Amino acid sequence: MISNRAGDIPILGRQEMVERSAALRREGRGIVLVPTMGYLHEGHLSLIRAARPLRPVVVVSIFVNPTQFGPDEDYQRYPRDMERDRRLAAGAGADIIFAPTEEEMYPEGYQTFVKVEELSRHLCGASRPVHFRGVATVVLKLFNIAGPEAAVFGEKDYQQLAVIRRMARDLDLGVEIVGCPIIREEDGLAMSSRNEYLSPDERLSALSLNRSLEAGREMILGGEEDAGIVREAIREVIEGAEGTAVDYVSVADPVNLEELDRVTGPTLLAVAVKIGPARLIDNVVVTPG
Ligand code: PAJ
Repeated sequence: MISNRAGDIPILGRQEMVERSAALRREGRGIVLVPTMGYLHEGHLSLIRAARPLRPVVVVSIFVNPTQFGPDEDYQRYPRDMERDRRLAAGAGADIIFAPTEEEMYPEGYQTFVKVEELSRHLCGASRPVHFRGVATVVLKLFNIAGPEAAVFGEKDYQQLAVIRRMARDLDLGVEIVGCPIIREEDGLAMSSRNEYLSPDERLSALSLNRSLEAGREMILGGEEDAGIVREAIREVIEGAEGTAVDYVSVADPVNLEELDRVTGPTLLAVAVKIGPARLIDNVVVTPG
């Protein structure tokens, strides 16, 4: 019997997870995995709550994955707090924390990577060239170690979810991939561990991401079909806020993530913006009326 009294759930390393997963399989108890990099917030907790009814055992992985950070990115200063995470995860219904070390995941001599070719090129892939290779690789490794039947991901990282769905299909992983909606603060800011980096003024500017997507959505629902005009309108809202630097504004096909000329069906509006020390992303899918 796995205890899930708040804060009391076990934290397993790589080998312990392999053994626990095998034991659970022998007992016929399926695992659902929620992969995270920790510093949990309501967005992560919503995934754990969504995972709870899917399989008898909910495993939350916490691993700040070095291979998905570029050389000038925030790997070193990414926020970490394992005890707080354990308490929050347990409270949301997790049974086990799987927290491998960097050495366990990438021992000396490590050299094998998975690349989802086309989907990794668009949106965030353009300015973060090794990011999705790192994500796909670590998620495959987490799956191989924890042995889940299902795994839950947030639509906050829309492209990541698309990449993982593709990998699961292409590599016959036999893991059911479940997507969950974006959880936002009351003022509309999408929750993110990286919001932690923002000063009060920067946080105010960060509201422009969601506002810009709302503006784009209104335009499309109002009948605008020219993707270039929608893109420009989104960019203007973001650039109207203090201290923002747009990385990209995408008006794209929600399946293959290719940029659109015309908006005629369901459309992904996605943005990435640098504000002070943080790079923030947000998105919405709009279906014209
Ligand atoms: P991390 O950024 O910690 O996010 C873990 C999961 O939480 C992802 O599936 C992400 O989409 C989801 N999530 C984050 N913010 C959310 C929000 N506001 N609403 C809903 N879901 C949200 O994404 C990663 O970690 C890593 O790339 C990982 C998949 C763990 C691989 O290292």
